[in-house]
Amino acid sequence: MRKLMRHLLWLLLLAALPALAGKSCVACHAGAAERSWALSKHGVIARIEAGRERRRTPGCEACHAVEAKTPAPQHYAKKTSRQEAREQASTGCGACHSPRYVAEQLAAAQRGLALGEMKRREAEALVEFARKEMNATELAQIEKLFATLRDENLRDLRLGLAHQSPDYQWWLGQAALDGSLLRIKAALGEARRSRLAAR
Ligand code: HEC
Ligand code: HEC
Ligand code: HEC
Repeated sequence: MRKLMRHLLWLLLLAALPALAGKSCVACHAGAAERSWALSKHGVIARIEAGRERRRTPGCEACHAVEAKTPAPQHYAKKTSRQEAREQASTGCGACHSPRYVAEQLAAAQRGLALGEMKRREAEALVEFARKEMNATELAQIEKLFATLRDENLRDLRLGLAHQSPDYQWWLGQAALDGSLLRIKAALGEARRSRLAAR
């Protein structure tokens, strides 16, 4: 009976695979990935030009040729590594923009990412300190703030830079990183003050 069930499960999975492969990128990558593109000039112009024959700006597949060719769950199967896919995603800009403009954009993205990483490292050092000094309740709050900084703010910055979205680069990226960092500092200061007051 168990064996039969397992066979049935496999059959179901195999039947679902073509359906999964035929899905649009946005079906699986709704949320920040889609929104950062939609808020970029590329996305805004694509929306205005929807339904027209000639489209001037790239949609997901135009830049992500690797993922378009090998849909999930095989996106990065064997030959096409994630790193190659990354490099590939920013090679097509020159078809529509001048080489100088593209070089400037890519360099600015590198700088933006380096700045974001700096903020993450600064926050991490504070969390390391908190892990040694603070009690469980104080630490839990600080860990939560750090998780937001690392998993949300930094991801949004990365997407903003990758998808040329000023909103994601700035308000949801750098400014949000600054905000999270400040909140971590404030939480540490608060914990220190209450400790001194208790003495
Ligand atoms: C059936 C759902 C599905 C579809 C359709 C899909 N993806 Fe994915 N994608 C995933 C999953 C799951 C992962 C993570 C696992 C992996 O690497 O395969 C992923 C990973 C990625 C990543 C790497 C994300 C990261 O955090 O490193 C990119 C980029 C990506 N997909 C782009 C696309 C693009 C562009 C399309 C359309 C051409 C697309 N995907 C279609 C499910 C999907
Ligand atoms: C102008 C080119 C371009 C377009 C258009 C574009 N992307 Fe990207 N995307 C990139 C580049 C470059 C990166 C950064 C390199 C990488 O991680 O693959 C990236 C990164 C990503 C990632 C990984 C983010 C992470 O957390 O590391 C996902 C997921 C993704 N894109 C999905 C999409 C989807 C979905 C669309 C369409 C709604 C789209 N992209 C449109 C160029 C583009
Ligand atoms: C299919 C053509 C096409 C491709 C490919 C393309 N773009 Fe664009 N892009 C446009 C058009 C059209 C605009 C809007 C008009 C303009 O600003 O030139 C635009 C706008 C932009 C803007 C906003 C400029 C502003 O004034 O706000 C940036 C930044 C940008 N692209 C960067 C890139 C990068 C980086 C890549 C490669 C990862 C890329 N583009 C790929 C066509 C393209």
